[in-house]
Amino acid sequence: MEYQILSNKWRPQNFDQIIGHKYIIRILKNSLDLKRIHQSWLFSGIHGIGKTTIARILAKSLNCENGITSKPCRVCKNCISIEKGNFLDFIELDAASKTKVEDIKIILDSTKYPPIQGRFKIYLIDEIHMLSKNSFNALLKILEEPPKYIKFILATTHLKKIPNTIISRCLHIHLPTITNKNISNYLRDKLKKENIQINQEILNIISNSAQGSIRNAINSLELALCSTTKNKINIKKITKLLGIFNKKNILLLAVNIINNNIDNTLKIIDDAEQKGIQHNNIILSLITFFHNLSIVKITTLKKKYSIDNLSKYDKIIYVLSKRILFKDIQIYCKILIQGEKYLRYAPNPKIGIEIILFQIYQYIQDKTRLIK
Ligand SMILES: Nc1ncnc2c1ncn2[C@@H]1O[C@H](COP(=O)(O)OP(=O)(O)O)[C@@H](O)[C@H]1O
Ligand SMILES: [Mg+2]
Ligand SMILES: [Zn+2]
Repeated sequence: MEYQILSNKWRPQNFDQIIGHKYIIRILKNSLDLKRIHQSWLFSGIHGIGKTTIARILAKSLNCENGITSKPCRVCKNCISIEKGNFLDFIELDAASKTKVEDIKIILDSTKYPPIQGRFKIYLIDEIHMLSKNSFNALLKILEEPPKYIKFILATTHLKKIPNTIISRCLHIHLPTITNKNISNYLRDKLKKENIQINQEILNIISNSAQGSIRNAINSLELALCSTTKNKINIKKITKLLGIFNKKNILLLAVNIINNNIDNTLKIIDDAEQKGIQHNNIILSLITFFHNLSIVKITTLKKKYSIDNLSKYDKIIYVLSKRILFKDIQIYCKILIQGEKYLRYAPNPKIGIEIILFQIYQYIQDKTRLIK
């Protein structure tokens, strides 16, 4: 059989298979079951969290031969045809390649004709933020009052670029990022069904580096699976593959930051560059590290355990947490989070990350001077 990439193979085909977005899915299902159907939807959120997937399930729900339903049957002609991508009344368009007003006019013209196969003729316009101003204006009227057999589903990764006049004519649904825990549980369940064994720590590394996107996580997993022919994926390999810092290196970097040892700090950044570690991954791993340290510092969770029972790594974290003020950890996090936002403006990523670390260095310097 032809190989299908995992993200397509695993694409949910009904609402119950969607990970996260529980509350949103409930609203969508209720609106279908109550037949309170909007004329235009707008899904926003980062890439790889289910916008297209949900839009396709919605198209099936509206056109299933068994009637409008939150549980499309997946066996009728319409459902099968939508899943195969050859349903004439479900038109998927990529706004990135159809930005001009002339393109939109062709679409508007085609809305005059009722559906051929289904109950509704549905237009899914992806990356809608790419449209020109004139194109948006041309769309306004039809979005507000389309013929009753027409439905629009818009999707965007850049909500800020969408005029308010468009947003207000749609039922706007923002899809938040997926939690690391949800992603790693999802990967674990999927792999179990595929009979593939991967250690949980590796799944956690993949999930943590996915930045809330399931597609990112699936793609990293696919890379990992191809990294070996012997079904042996080790942590060293995967951290290298994903361009991320391993736990030990992040700990070492954090200890040097806390000790205000700028020489060692810069040396670790140099080494990271040699190893091809992605710079924003270093910042994100540091933020995660300091967040973890905050938790160890303020919660009583760890107190349940005797320090002797902690792993070597957790023991170091525990000891480190005793040496640093909670307030200072929060300041480091703030500098890192703000710095990460501006990283792309730096002449190159390495300079960017060094500037961020200089700010923490400066903060500790000032503080020590004050104490003296
Ligand atoms: N919420 C989700 N639940 C389950 N799988 C998901 C989810 N979001 C994304 N995926 C996976 O990622 C792939 C891409 O999702 P897609 O809906 O195309 O993302 P986008 O938000 O970029 O439109 C899907 O085929 C599916 O395998
Ligand atoms: Mg999409
Ligand atoms: Zn059906």
